[in-house]
Formats: sequence, structure tokens, C-alpha cells
Amino acid sequence: MIKLDVKHLGKIDARHGLSEKELRVNADQIAEFLEKFKKREQGFHEVVDNKQMLKEVHAFGDEVKGKYEDIVLLGIGGSALGTICLQQSLKHLYENELEDREYPQLHAVDNIDPSLISEIQDVINFEKTLFLVVSKSGGTPETLAEYFYFRDLCEEKGLDIKEHFVFITDPKKGLLRKVANEEGIRAFDVPGNVGGRFSVLTNVSLIPAKLIGIDIDAILEGAREAKESFLNTNFDQNLPFQLANIQYSLDKKGKFLNVLIPYSHKLIRFSDWYRQLLAESIGKAFNDLGKKVNTGLTPINALGATDQHSQNQLYNEGPNDKFFMFIKINDFGKTIQIPYLHPNEESANFLRNIDFRQLIHTEMHGTIHSLVRNDRPVLVIEIERIDAKTLGTLIMFFKCATAFLGELYEINAFNQPGVELSKQLTKKLLLDNS
Ligand code: PA5
Repeated sequence: MIKLDVKHLGKIDARHGLSEKELRVNADQIAEFLEKFKKREQGFHEVVDNKQMLKEVHAFGDEVKGKYEDIVLLGIGGSALGTICLQQSLKHLYENELEDREYPQLHAVDNIDPSLISEIQDVINFEKTLFLVVSKSGGTPETLAEYFYFRDLCEEKGLDIKEHFVFITDPKKGLLRKVANEEGIRAFDVPGNVGGRFSVLTNVSLIPAKLIGIDIDAILEGAREAKESFLNTNFDQNLPFQLANIQYSLDKKGKFLNVLIPYSHKLIRFSDWYRQLLAESIGKAFNDLGKKVNTGLTPINALGATDQHSQNQLYNEGPNDKFFMFIKINDFGKTIQIPYLHPNEESANFLRNIDFRQLIHTEMHGTIHSLVRNDRPVLVIEIERIDAKTLGTLIMFFKCATAFLGELYEINAFNQPGVELSKQLTKKLLLDNS
């Protein structure tokens, strides 16, 4: 489970931190917020109980086990970031370089840079590749272009498209669904009431995760824990609300930049996933009443300990406009002692008798203490370890906190008119130029 350590927020100048009382402000509105959320008819939290979906994912994974060497994911934004996060967090960090792998390699092609399109071909064996085309709308220009290109290549090679392509898309709408229906290409649904950036716990990421051997049952089990907490009207039990309330209250104090700093290399792509979730959900021009509000919390990614040596100076001494969310992992699953070489050299005696876990934790505490000394607001989100269950909890925790943020700002956290506008204008420009 997750623990929130809020003590540092009370230790700094009141203009920048939050007192005990401030931490609980809005607490009596949880039930009301949940009611409002219900009216938005979103299903991202309910999908964790969808047994049929899970059964189909397992059946597909078991059916194709051993058939493919490479899985190429064609998708972008919410159709790719969750999967990349699961892969990075739960697989060996050098999985694709390992020999004797039990599962296929997963490559996410979530960009249209011609170099990426061309160079991916140097590492895959088309005869043994499954292309997963993931697009909720089935009309995103980048994903369609990739689909056209790789399908054409497969056809040129004489490959059976039905053996090499699977779509994950809207149950009814869009080009991919139409093609799937017409040609009998296998297609899995993205539930209509789950938006792209909220879709990681649906077929969108569960299918690729299953194909590469991730324990998807455990992910959903963990997610269920956070869902229960989300629906609990008791402030002390509702961790997602507590986080949202802190983000919202600190925004009121001018901390509109939210820095996420996991002290774990495995969570480097978790921050990419969260960046989209926070940015697209909360960055809105109009509130529920149609009033122009231009809300937004700007997410910033940082990685501990690496970015202590790139961003820390700014964070300590630059503008006090940021809220810092550290993620602390208690147990890395291994203890690696640092050998104390050169014992006669005093300049390195701080490395005497410590292991890498102690080092990374101490570095994190040192960084937190320096921020607190400079009156910067810090929250520590603590998890026991990085495994499928905990990651499921963490993902659902942040999604639910984002849903509460929407209610606190009185905006629709589930649409993305800005993204849609850029998609439309891109299509128009392409047509105008053709
Ligand atoms: O969160 C969202 O809705 C977007 O970021 C989408 O995930 C992204 O634009 C890709 O859309 P689609 O899945 O329709 O291809």
C-alpha cells in the first residue's frame, strides 16, 4: 500500500506550506465530489472489476504464447504511455538485451520520426512480429500513418495480415474498427467510458503487458485497493483525495508546477505516464459552468538521484513556484554493498559500510532537507517495493487523485479539446498541402 508523508509541508514558512488544518480543508466535501464525479459517467476505476475483459486478455495471451519474437506497439499518448510505463517498471531494465528470454520483446513506436520508423526495422523479424495498433479513436494521424506503413511492408513480404496485426480500439467507431469488421482482423475494445490517458488498466496496456509476461492479475488487484480508497468518504482513508487536496491548495499558494521525483530508475517512465495524465486532465480553458478559467498544473519529470545533478540548483534557489512529490521505495529487493576501497583516503569516507539502498535513500533525504530549508513544499509518497500489485495501486492512486482535482477545480478532467483541436488542424493542413 501507499503511505503519504506530509510532515515536511508543515515545517516550512506558512506562505509556502500547509498546516494540519489546511491539509484537511475541503475534507467534508468528499462525498459531494464523488457524486459529481459519478455524473461524469467515467469507468476508469470500474474496469479493474471487469472479469470478462481479463479473461479475454489471458485467453489471447495464452493462445499466442511462443508465436512471436517481437511485439511492435503502434500508438501514441494514452495509447502508448501506460504500456511503456508497465514495461519499464516491471520488466528487467535490459530485458530486450537479455538472451534466453521467455517472452517477446516489446517495442513501442510512439512517434513518427522517420529515423524511428526506419531503425525499428533493423531489430525486428517481420515473420515473427505482431503489430498491436492501439488507438481509441482509430483516427489519430500518427498511429494511422504507422499502421499504413507497416501493413504495406508486411503485405509486400507476403505475410498474412490477420496473423500479424491486432487492433485495440473503440468498440464501434473509427477506421480501425471498420477495417477489423470488414477484414476479420482481431480487435479488442477500449471501453467507451475510459479516456486515452486513463486507459492503462484496460486492454490498451493489459494486452501488451500479458504478451510480455507481466502479472496483470496482480496489477488489477493493486488497483482495486486504490479504488476502494478513492470511494471512501473518510478523509483519513482517502489517499487520492489527500493528494489532490494538497496539489490544489498549493496551487492557490502559487505552486502550479508539480515535480514528480521517483527515487527509482524503474519508475522513470511512470513519470512520463503521469505527466500526460496531469497535463491533459487539468489544463482546461473553461470550467463546468462555461466560465473561462485556464486551469492547469504543469507536470515536471525528475529522476532521483540522477537529476540531483541537473535540476536541484533550480529547485532549491529558483522561483518558489513548485510542489515536489518524491516517491520513496523501501525495498529494492537486493542489497548491494559498496566495497570500501581506498580506506586511507579521507575524501571518500562517507562511503564506509553502506549499501546502494542506503545511499539512494540518504541522497533523497539530503535533497528533501535542502528543499525544506529553502521553504519548498515536499510530499513523500512511500511504497514498499516495485511489483505488479504496488504499481497497480500507484497508477490507480494517481488517476483517482486526478479525478478529484477535476472536481476541486470544477472542470471536466476527462476531455481534451486542445488535443482534438491540434489533431483536426493537422489533418486540415495535410489535406491543404496534398
Ligand atoms: O488522453 C487522450 O485521450 C489522448 O492523449 C490520446 O491518448 C491520444 O491522442 C491518442 O489517441 P487515440 O488513442 O485515439 O489514438
